[in-house]
Amino acid sequence: MTRKLRVGLIGAGIAQRHSAGYNWNKDLFEVPVLCSLDEDRGRRAVAEYGVGEYTSDVETLFARDDLDVIDICTPPDSHFALSKRAIEAGKHVICEKPLFGSIADVDAMSDIVAGTDRKFMPIFQYRYGTGLQKLKRLIELGSAGRPFLTTVETHWWRGPAYYEVPWRGKWASELGGGLLGHAIHAHDMLNYVHGACAEIFAHGATPVNKIEVEDTMTLSVKMANGSLAALSMTLGSRKEISRLRFCFSDMVAESILEPYTMGRDPRTFIAGTPEHRARIDAALAEHRVTEDGYTRQFELFHEAVMTGGEPPVTPGRCAQFACFGDGSVSFPENGPAVTIANHASASALWLLAPLTGGSTAGRPKMQKDRTYPRLQGNQRLYRVVARQIAGMIEQNAADKSGACHRSGSWPKSFRSAAQWSARR
Ligand SMILES: NC(=O)c1ccc[n+]([C@@H]2O[C@H](COP(=O)([O-])OP(=O)(O)OC[C@H]3O[C@@H](n4cnc5c(N)ncnc54)[C@H](O)[C@@H]3O)[C@@H](O)[C@H]2O)c1
Repeated sequence: MTRKLRVGLIGAGIAQRHSAGYNWNKDLFEVPVLCSLDEDRGRRAVAEYGVGEYTSDVETLFARDDLDVIDICTPPDSHFALSKRAIEAGKHVICEKPLFGSIADVDAMSDIVAGTDRKFMPIFQYRYGTGLQKLKRLIELGSAGRPFLTTVETHWWRGPAYYEVPWRGKWASELGGGLLGHAIHAHDMLNYVHGACAEIFAHGATPVNKIEVEDTMTLSVKMANGSLAALSMTLGSRKEISRLRFCFSDMVAESILEPYTMGRDPRTFIAGTPEHRARIDAALAEHRVTEDGYTRQFELFHEAVMTGGEPPVTPGRCAQFACFGDGSVSFPENGPAVTIANHASASALWLLAPLTGGSTAGRPKMQKDRTYPRLQGNQRLYRVVARQIAGMIEQNAADKSGACHRSGSWPKSFRSAAQWSARR
């Protein structure tokens, strides 16, 4: 049975893009109410997108029995409480990135959702760019070959005016820096294509703005599938670009440089031989192009609710979050390090990565008994090693490509937890 889902939208910033996405799916969704604290913006959004009514009281949304879905587009520090409240009120939940501030919260929410028949979906709308979907299709067909190297650049500009919004730039309210808030989509693409990360080494710094969180980072990554990746993120690039380059044994895939649409076409696929070029062209000619962005993610969410299947993006599941020792592993020669014994999903790893550096002041705790070393100055060196537990990385339901989302490998550089712990 297909019926329209009724959405209560919270927020009036990026929520406007969500409104547009629902409007493109008018046969699947309607938005009777939008809630925001900033009345002017809220009322303007209601008028512009044909939303039924405006409210400033979020509690009224949870109390309504004519809403199927609560869509949370508020600052990061409110995501967990609002999601919990919405699930407890019997609603399906869609929540903007960054989902939460810790794996513990991801686990807690997974437990809450597991006890219900409600759907919970974090937003990763960039996955549905046509160019990225074509790459997924070529991998699925075996046309890419073995993965060698991926480079991901998120070089954007955010000046002081951007950080005048009170919740931005602070650990307590933004929950992380540019890695969590800005590069998250491009980095998610790495995991969406290649699956989980096995090891990450990162340098972070805050040279661009006077903020608590990092605004510039480099990361060296070993993927669980054996390929390598080099990622860079800065909010200090006067020319804004996003660029992803995937090198496989039989093909290179290059994104466009447009900073906010890097998943879209035209993506360039470069084959090693003319024969292989012809095979790629033939495969792409048959590729079914869908809507992209929010429009597509919402469409897939609707399908999941109707069929009882998994939403296209899930927060993953984390059976345990066990750290070695007290979790705040320190390497005198390299600065502090944190080990993550397992994590819920690739995106959760990105969600966690910013928590591994910087001041502990005001930052959400990853685990009650954990402490984080306070670092000196802006130049932060930190190291994250993530161990994947077999089956922890959930294949997302709409992802039919069979790409490597499951792994069970322990980072080869560390034989065991005990060995890792002994290095402290
Ligand atoms: N997926 C993307 O591409 C993308 C892009 C931009 C922002 N975001 C994310 O969306 C979220 C919101 O960002 P934004 O730029 O729209 O922020 P914003 O500050 O522009 O807007 C936040 C909105 O939430 C409302 N709000 C906050 N707390 C509320 C509460 N308790 N009850 C009701 N309304 C409340 C505010 O009134 C405001 O309308 C952030 O997590 C951000 O990272 C995602």
